[in-house]
Amino acid sequence: MNYHIVTYGCQMNLHESEKIAGILRSVGYEKEVPLEEADIIVFNTCCIRENAENHAFGNIGALKKLKRQKKGLIIAVGGCMAQEPGKVKVLQEKFPFIDIIFGTHNLAELASLIERKKSEKRVVSLYEDRRETEDGAQPCRTSYPNAWVNITYGCNNFCTYCIVPYVRGREKSRSAAVILDEVRGLVKEGYKEITLLGQNVNSYRDGDVDFPALLEMVASVEGNFRLRFMTSHPKDFSARLVAVMKKHDKILNLLHLPAQSGSTRILRLMNRRYTREEYLEKVALLKREIPEAEITTDLIVAFPTETEEEFEETLSLVKEADFASAFTFIYSPRTGTEAAKMEGRISDEVAKDRITRLVACVNENTRRKSEKYVGREIEVLCEDFDEKRGLYLGREPLGRMGYFSSDTNCIGEFVRMKVTRANGVSLYGDKIETR
Ligand code: SAH
Ligand code: SF4
Ligand code: F3S
Repeated sequence: MNYHIVTYGCQMNLHESEKIAGILRSVGYEKEVPLEEADIIVFNTCCIRENAENHAFGNIGALKKLKRQKKGLIIAVGGCMAQEPGKVKVLQEKFPFIDIIFGTHNLAELASLIERKKSEKRVVSLYEDRRETEDGAQPCRTSYPNAWVNITYGCNNFCTYCIVPYVRGREKSRSAAVILDEVRGLVKEGYKEITLLGQNVNSYRDGDVDFPALLEMVASVEGNFRLRFMTSHPKDFSARLVAVMKKHDKILNLLHLPAQSGSTRILRLMNRRYTREEYLEKVALLKREIPEAEITTDLIVAFPTETEEEFEETLSLVKEADFASAFTFIYSPRTGTEAAKMEGRISDEVAKDRITRLVACVNENTRRKSEKYVGREIEVLCEDFDEKRGLYLGREPLGRMGYFSSDTNCIGEFVRMKVTRANGVSLYGDKIETR
């Protein structure tokens, strides 16, 4: 018996799929196989924007035929969409062939839901909120040499556009001792990059241990590994955190700091709790202490009532904050959020025009910054082999992807390479040596 997992959404969800795989293996499923060959198919869904939901709907719908042909095939749907208020009904009506629906708070229960399915036609299990911070699931990691470690679950920020607080519940921090144990174990197993995960890592708290203190503890774990963390909310990004980043070589000088907009009025409507100026002060604080640091971001265009001038403030922020790269999104109304009730929706035509201009602006920045790398030596952590290009790939400490050829398998090794060409965030070059 084998499984197939389809994952949508953020790193948090990718990591959760590793936990789902671990649970499936613990109840006798052997390995991940292509969708058509699987005995159980699990959809780990996302509902952050409408198109994420539409993808899932399309792909779940396409399984109707397979389900009819293959007796005993189990189809399970979990994740943020399953947890969305009212969505279970929609899922059941649209796809009566779904066997199991589970939410974001009861992942650990999946094994018993599969057991229940043997005697029940359809199993649905959703909790209002997460009960414990430990889900007991032993992840089956698929991202070697990188490993994700949750430090918080949920979010309390209620940005007005965002569905996450409704589908992931209130923010809860895992205990520092448990996190440290997990990291020590991963380093011992040979993982070379640890990424601490939370919707807003900066609000982590376990007794006296806040995020800078936790980061310092993790960075002090012995071993040869890189340390990253995401996501940082600008309102909570502090000088103490910068000091910890500066002190420890293991912590990459790479910060994902979602700005969302360059306009203070729009930021207020988004309930982000910082102004454009305050955002730029945080950027300046980081660059003053660590001049080589790179910042990546998330940006939304066409939030309700956004004017052309306000959009242009987002364009100018890209230049002023000197983002290395950015994820850019068209605002997507999410039922149940504050912004979905706001007047002043921006037309699709204007939204598309703005996103096109923003993408061009971000790309131009990325290109200019990457070109400076040509002729330089960098060290990448090799993470994969790209069949299409016939090249190995890995990230340099500031997040750019380096491609190189090698006769030996380098996955999991730190490789020095000389950059000969840049294309967007990708750098191409020759391997010099392996560490
Ligand atoms: N917790 C993180 C990211 C959460 S979701 C943070 O606070 O930054 C990832 C990104 O999706 C957000 O940063 C935002 O840019 C985008 N996003 C969230 N809701 C959205 C919506 N309704 N429409 C468009 N983009 C959205
Ligand atoms: Fe959503 Fe805001 Fe929480 Fe991020 S901080 S998950 S954008 S509500
Ligand atoms: Fe992540 Fe999407 Fe849920 S971005 S937290 S999987 S809504």
